[in-house]
Amino acid sequence: MCGIIGRVGSDDAIDTLLTGLENLEYRGYDSAGVAVQNGSGIKVQKRSGKVSELKETIDSRLADGQVGIGHTRWSTHGPPTDENAHPHTDSTTDVAVVHNGIIENYAELRSCLTARGHEFTSDTDTEVIPHLIQHYLDSGWDNETAFRMAISELEGSYAVAAMLSGEHVLYAARKGSPLVVGVDEGTDGYFIASDVPAFLEFTDTVTYLEDGDVVVVRPNGVEITDLEGRDVSRDLETVDWDPEQAGKGSFDHYMLKEIFEQPTSLTQTIEGRIGRSASEITLEDFPPGSFTDVDRVLFVACGTSYHAGVYGALALNQAGVHAQALLANEYSVAAPPVDGRTLVVAVTQSGETADTLGALRRANEAGARTVTVTNVVGSTAVREADESLLIRAGPEIGVAATKTFSSQAVVLTLLGQRIAADVTGDPSADLDSFLPSLSNLPDHVEYVLEESDAERIARRYRESPSYFFIGRGLGYPVALEGALKFKEITYEHAEGFASGELKHGPLALVTPETPVFAVFTGEEDEQTLKNAAEAGTRGAPIVAVCPDGHPALETADAHLEIPDLDPTLAGLVANVQLQLVSYYAADALGRPIDKPRNLAKSVTVE
Ligand code: F6R
Repeated sequence: MCGIIGRVGSDDAIDTLLTGLENLEYRGYDSAGVAVQNGSGIKVQKRSGKVSELKETIDSRLADGQVGIGHTRWSTHGPPTDENAHPHTDSTTDVAVVHNGIIENYAELRSCLTARGHEFTSDTDTEVIPHLIQHYLDSGWDNETAFRMAISELEGSYAVAAMLSGEHVLYAARKGSPLVVGVDEGTDGYFIASDVPAFLEFTDTVTYLEDGDVVVVRPNGVEITDLEGRDVSRDLETVDWDPEQAGKGSFDHYMLKEIFEQPTSLTQTIEGRIGRSASEITLEDFPPGSFTDVDRVLFVACGTSYHAGVYGALALNQAGVHAQALLANEYSVAAPPVDGRTLVVAVTQSGETADTLGALRRANEAGARTVTVTNVVGSTAVREADESLLIRAGPEIGVAATKTFSSQAVVLTLLGQRIAADVTGDPSADLDSFLPSLSNLPDHVEYVLEESDAERIARRYRESPSYFFIGRGLGYPVALEGALKFKEITYEHAEGFASGELKHGPLALVTPETPVFAVFTGEEDEQTLKNAAEAGTRGAPIVAVCPDGHPALETADAHLEIPDLDPTLAGLVANVQLQLVSYYAADALGRPIDKPRNLAKSVTVE
């Protein structure tokens, strides 16, 4: 949701902070700001708009100071104005704070502080934090105690970093929002951030904080305690993400880079999980027999991850296992009954989506067995689920999820095979043909990326007022995902449907101006063909996503080719074609592809 960076080092902090903010901008980009501590107190600069706009206006007052904090915001309380940008300070600018999350009791705290004479200048919930710290300082407490006392009063979720005038120290605390410490005992010093990419080019040695942790970062080291000040021990880990991977390289956008990374990310996802002879699956902590006590599987997720969950549920149903995908944010309203034989799989690339974490917690409380499928080691979802499985897609920076969807779907397919074999007692008869196809998936994706006609097709239809995506079976979640990606980055209207549903209402919207992208996965294609024809006879241009020589091409207006693959995998390659269509359509329309309006990469509020 918002991005936080903090740094304590031996040279000036400002450039490192700005680099960190640029690296974090995918978490929010409504406004940005920095605060630096130097001999003459704390200096703050902040404004609405992107980090690049902040950078243009940085003045020399911030040039020196080895300790600093920075923030890039996705607004929750108050519009994205200069005043609402972080860091926030108390009235004397002796305390500066950046925050991610929501302080639920801020109204109450604010009125108490106002009654004591504190003046507020923003609409944010965050501003109560520096005022609370100041209140405890004024009452005679030392800096560290004042920070702890203020944090103890907060209700809600937070990752907070604070700096107090007159000392080269950072304070940070987390509850419900991610925070990680970066350690470079050589030249670059210590970092705190909401996410590893913030400082990955400076250090790959990290400590993931847990809820309730308080960190004090000094030039000579980091001390982690609980809120009461008792020492807690957290492991130092090495992140195996390459900083190059987290950069844009020669691509114009992260999204395009991440689409083109899929042959590599899928190779990483599959590596070691399919035996050499491609005849068996190895799934780390889930050997054969891991799911014999399961009789039902629920996938909970949001957005793109939900589409991967639908993919996983359909594949399991086809294999004879009761499975259902549920939107995590709806789960709280109408969660189906669960028991110890229900497996709840939380699918979340970030591992920090509040809605998904909420559903995961409910499932834990209800006694289900929980597994998280995520891209982020050490994320909250990993810590809170009983077990976890990593998708190993590497860092994804573009707000629109691309490579993580492909890797999620592959992991869910593998997990599904293992579950189905255990639950039905019948190791899939198809495994012999499916696994060799899966091990060639990266090559098929490579072929599509090299040969795709998506750019020409996207430009041809870019004036259309509306776009439809249809598919059947495993083509259905691909249609949903194609439409989500399209609307998210082009800002044009797009809808995904199960192809058979078109005639039950949406057909009324079809005109010669509404291109229909029809996904053919090899499952009951003749039905999808009929549904596409129903739109085609109403004048809609039909773009067939199918193998060469497919019957759909006899009537289609355009063709996005996919290899002739096992139906379980065809949809994933079709999805790559649709990702490219969305990208090139958005590019032709001049949209800010990596940072679509109103969105953020990681949504840590419910
Ligand atoms: C769309 C997109 C979002 C996320 C959703 C869940 O491109 O990225 O719809 O999929 O916010 O995020 P995670 O997977 O981090 O839980």
